[in-house]
Amino acid sequence: MARLDVTEMFHGISFPGHLHTQDSLKLALKFPFRDSDILIVSYPKSGTTWMQEIVSLISNKGDPHVSQNTPNWARSPWLEQYYFAAVLDSSPSTPRVITTHLPHHLLGPALQGSKAKVIYVSRNPKDVVVSFYHFHKMANFLPEPDTFPEFLNQFLEGTLSYGSWFDHVKGWSDQTASVNCLLHITYEEMSLDLCGAIKRISSFLQCPLVEDEVSTCVKHCSFSSMKHNKMVNYTLVAQEIMDHGKGSFMRKGKIGDWKNMFTEEQNQYFNCVYKSKMQDCTLRFVWEEQKEEESHVKDLNAVEES
Ligand code: A3P
Repeated sequence: MARLDVTEMFHGISFPGHLHTQDSLKLALKFPFRDSDILIVSYPKSGTTWMQEIVSLISNKGDPHVSQNTPNWARSPWLEQYYFAAVLDSSPSTPRVITTHLPHHLLGPALQGSKAKVIYVSRNPKDVVVSFYHFHKMANFLPEPDTFPEFLNQFLEGTLSYGSWFDHVKGWSDQTASVNCLLHITYEEMSLDLCGAIKRISSFLQCPLVEDEVSTCVKHCSFSSMKHNKMVNYTLVAQEIMDHGKGSFMRKGKIGDWKNMFTEEQNQYFNCVYKSKMQDCTLRFVWEEQKEEESHVKDLNAVEES
């Protein structure tokens, strides 16, 4: 399935026509979840592939055999993509591990009443937009991005593929009441303390690990291991679909790369939009604390300079 220039509009959100059809999207909303399912949810570029790898490794007690021999999309397929049912049917995995980028207002009803374990991964949206921008350049199934300032505006307006980051994060974080079993974890937590994050996730999945198993998980889902693992670095995807000459999927894997891309003006504008859109969000995020620390340091610098 190529359909590289096709876009599917679904409930006001655009999805790449490559891998998504109206039927596959409609079917996703009616998916009969089992209580034993594990669902990884994220807005794109938030650490989805990383979480898929972590969950695979935890489920296999740190043994990398599966993650080094089966592509991530076959181990934890995307619910809304057209090949989903076929992959799930042929998957021996119990519990089933499913991935989705769908927002809560679309998928919530299918999850209602289910005890499926949902892991929601979020990431500082400034790093998300930078990562997404670079990804648009290499992914031939996404529109060629204009300049970064224009791309940034589209991100803030929520008109890029998969819709608004703000609606996505708020939708899933305000749903502790209607999703029975939800773990919210950030890319930043995984970056700053991968070992701690793995322990948190394994305990949430009720899949306890001994220290040696935690260490092997850490080793195999580090950025450098994953960058060289063709089952997760997307180099198996044909050049016409992902132009590997224009960039790599496992790009930098860092917190704060946005600082190399944003101007001071863009940063201030982003902060204003963020503040107004996130004021009704009940969760506090690691990057908000970092922002406060930064502005505190700035205030102190200003005092020292005066
Ligand atoms: P960058 O483009 O900033 O490098 P997703 O899987 O949701 O599309 O997210 C992709 C982003 O996660 C990319 O970010 C990628 O490099 C990063 N990533 C994937 N695996 C990682 C790991 N093990 N450690 C750190 N970052 C990782």
